[in-house]
Amino acid sequence: MPSHSVVREDISCPEQALQYETLFTIGNGYVGVRGLREEQETHPYFDSTRVHGLFNSVEGDLGPDLAPAPHWLGLTLEFDGHRFGLETGRLLGYERAPEPATATLTRRVLWQSPSGDVVRLEFERFASSADPHVLALRVTGRVLHGAPRVRVCGGIETRVTLPSGFEHWEPWESGSAAPDSVWVRSRTNQSGYGLAMTAALLTDLNAAPAAEADMPHPVVEFSAPLVTGQRFTVTKLVTLYTSRDSADPLADAQAALARARRAGYNALYSAHLEHWAQLWADSDVELKGDPFLQQALRFCIYHVLIAAPQHDDDVSIGAKTLSGAGYRGHVFWDTDLFMVPLLTLTQPHLARNLLMYRYHRLPGARAKARDNGYEGAMFPWESADTGSEVTPKWTPPDAKGKRIRIWTGELEQHVTSDIAYAILQYWRWTGDDEFMRDHGAEIVLDGARFWASRVEWQQETGRYEIHHVIGPDEYHEDVNNNVFTNRMARWHLEAAQQVWGWLSAQHPDRARALAGALTLDAAAFERWQHVIDHLYIPFDSARQIHIQYDDFFDLEPVDVLAFEPRVASLQTVFGFEAVQHLRIIKQADVVMMMALLGEQVGSPAVLGNNWDTYYPVCDHGSSLSPAVHAWVAARLGLIDLAHGFFEHAASIDLRDNKGNARDGIHGASCGGLWQAMAFGFAGLHLTADGFALDPHLPPGWERLRFSVRYHGERYTMTIEGGESRIERT
Ligand code: BGC
Repeated sequence: MPSHSVVREDISCPEQALQYETLFTIGNGYVGVRGLREEQETHPYFDSTRVHGLFNSVEGDLGPDLAPAPHWLGLTLEFDGHRFGLETGRLLGYERAPEPATATLTRRVLWQSPSGDVVRLEFERFASSADPHVLALRVTGRVLHGAPRVRVCGGIETRVTLPSGFEHWEPWESGSAAPDSVWVRSRTNQSGYGLAMTAALLTDLNAAPAAEADMPHPVVEFSAPLVTGQRFTVTKLVTLYTSRDSADPLADAQAALARARRAGYNALYSAHLEHWAQLWADSDVELKGDPFLQQALRFCIYHVLIAAPQHDDDVSIGAKTLSGAGYRGHVFWDTDLFMVPLLTLTQPHLARNLLMYRYHRLPGARAKARDNGYEGAMFPWESADTGSEVTPKWTPPDAKGKRIRIWTGELEQHVTSDIAYAILQYWRWTGDDEFMRDHGAEIVLDGARFWASRVEWQQETGRYEIHHVIGPDEYHEDVNNNVFTNRMARWHLEAAQQVWGWLSAQHPDRARALAGALTLDAAAFERWQHVIDHLYIPFDSARQIHIQYDDFFDLEPVDVLAFEPRVASLQTVFGFEAVQHLRIIKQADVVMMMALLGEQVGSPAVLGNNWDTYYPVCDHGSSLSPAVHAWVAARLGLIDLAHGFFEHAASIDLRDNKGNARDGIHGASCGGLWQAMAFGFAGLHLTADGFALDPHLPPGWERLRFSVRYHGERYTMTIEGGESRIERT
C-alpha cells in the first residue's frame, strides 16, 4: 500500500507539541487517541483518549463536555536506572509520523542513555478498526551498545482532566486480574455513563511482571537484563467498554482482553490492516502533480474516517472529531454539511449512522421548537447526547473576568435545513429508500413544519420574512432575512414537498402514519406552498446580487484583503464588538448558499456578481470557509483562486494556519476539502438519471482519481490530460 504519511514531527519546536498531538491522533470511530508520547511524564492535562457519546455536565461549567477517558498510552522504559525520554541522555535519531494508509502511529528513536548505553526503539500504536474495543501499542527495542538492565512500567492513568479543570468522574476503582494486567472503572459524575478499561503489559523478555493496582495510576512493571545486540518487544494491550455498549463494561473489557491476548498483537494488527485496506479502497483520492495536496487530502479523509462511528447510530462526530477538547465534543452543522457528504459518497453506511443520530434526537428538536413557540422539529445549534440545545450561553471568563454572551444557541437556526440537505443528498446518491421511508422523511417533514411556523408574515410587503437570526457569518448577530437561512428554508419546504409526494405514492401506509403524527393535512400543505411562493429572498435587482441580510450594505466597509497575510482573524484584530459593525464576514454565507444550491441560486451573471461582492470581504475566521470558497471558485472557473483556497483549506491543521490545531482537528474543513475536490474541481454532480463530471483542474494536477458509490455500486473517476472517465469498479 502506498504511504500516505504527510507530516513528520519537528521536536525542535516544543511549542508545537500540542499541534502534533492533534495531528497524530489515531482512532476507529469508537475512540480517538491524541498523539501523546508514551514516556511523557508531565502534561498540562493527560487528555489523550475520547470515546463517542460520554457527555457529562458539571455544576458551574458551561455545558456538557465529552468526558476524557483514562490515559492508557503511558509506558516508561529505564535502562540501568536512566529513564528513556527526549530530555534525558542523547537523541541520536528521531522520527515520528502517522500513517493514514494503515491508521498507525509510528516512532523510531535512537537514544543514548546518560551512562552510554545505546538503544534503538520503535514504537507502533493503533486503535483496532476490526474490534473497536481494542487498543494496542508495541515497542520493539534493540541494544546497540552496552548491556543495561531494562525496567518497564505501564498502566492506566486516571488523573485526566480537561483544560477547564472540571472533574467528570466518580472516584475510580481499580484492580488486577493477573500479574501482568490492571483494570479501572468509574462513572461520569452527572450523566452516569460507566467506563471500564483494562491494560496488559506483555513481553518476550524473561521477566516476571507484577501489577500494582493502586490508584490513581495502577501499573504493571517488570525488569530484565539485556545484552548487546539483544532485541526485545514490549506490548501493551488495552480494552475498553462503556455502559453505552455493555451491561457490564468491566466483564466485557476483561473478556476482550483475554481474546486479544489469545489473538496476539500480530493477528490483531493484521485484522486492523485488512479493515483499513477496505476503507481506502472506497475512499482514497489520487492526485498526481501536487504531493502536498495529495497527502493533505488523504490526511483529511483519514481524520473523518477515524472519527466516524462504525457500529453506533446514536452518536455523531463533534466539530473537533475525537482529537481534542475544542467545542467540548459538540456536534454542529459541520457534521451534516461538511463531513457527511464525503461519507455519503464513499462509505454510505457511516453516513447513515450519522443521519440516524439526528433521527434519534427528534424528540429534543421538537421540544426546542415547542419551547420557542414553533411547530415541528427545530434542531439545536450545538448537540450532544440528549438532543437538547447545548450551546453555552457565555464564553469562559477572559483574564479580566469578562465573558461574552453567545447567541448562536438561540439564533443560528439554519442547522435544521442543513440536516435536511444532508438527508436528501444521502437519499439521492444511495437510493436508500428504506432509510427515507422509516427515518429521513420524518426529519425532513417535521423540519418543514418548523419553518412554516417560523416565518413571519409582513402585511405591508405581502411576504414572509425571518427575523432575529444568525447566518453562517457569525460576526453579525440578530439580523433579519439572512439570505442563506431564508433560501435554505425555502429549499427545505420544496424538498419536503418532494419527499411527501414520493412517500404518499410509494409508501401510503407510512405517509398516513406520518400525516397523523405530524398533522400534515391540506391546510399544512397549502401553507407550505404559500411560504415557498412568498418567502423573501433578499436580492438587489439593480446590482443583480443577493443581499446577505437586511442592512448588510449599511455596515462600514473594510479593505479585508489589505490585512493579508495573517493568521489572526479580523475579529481578533478589531475586537468582538467592533467587528459587528464592519462589512467583514466570518465565513462563506452567500457563497455557502451557492455551493449547496449551485445554479438554483441564479443565473451565471448573478453567481459571478455574488462572488465578486462577497469573497473579497470574507475573513475566513472559520475553518469552514476556505474549502467552500475553493469549491465555488472552481465551479465558476476561477481556477487560480480556487487553487489558493484549496491550499488554504489543506493547510488548516497541517500548517496550523488558524493557530488552534492544538484543540483538535477541524473536521468540517477535512470534509470540505474532499467536497472542493469532488464537487468543485472534478465538477461531480447528480443528473436526472445518474451523475456526471465537469472537471476544471488546476494546471499542475496531472491526474485526479477517486471513487464514489452511487446506488450501491462503486464507480471510479479518472481525470487526466483534459479527458475524464467513469468506470464501474
Ligand atoms: C463557525 C461555525 C462552526 C463552528 C464549529 C464556528 O467558528 O462559525 O460555522 O459550526 O465554529 O466548527
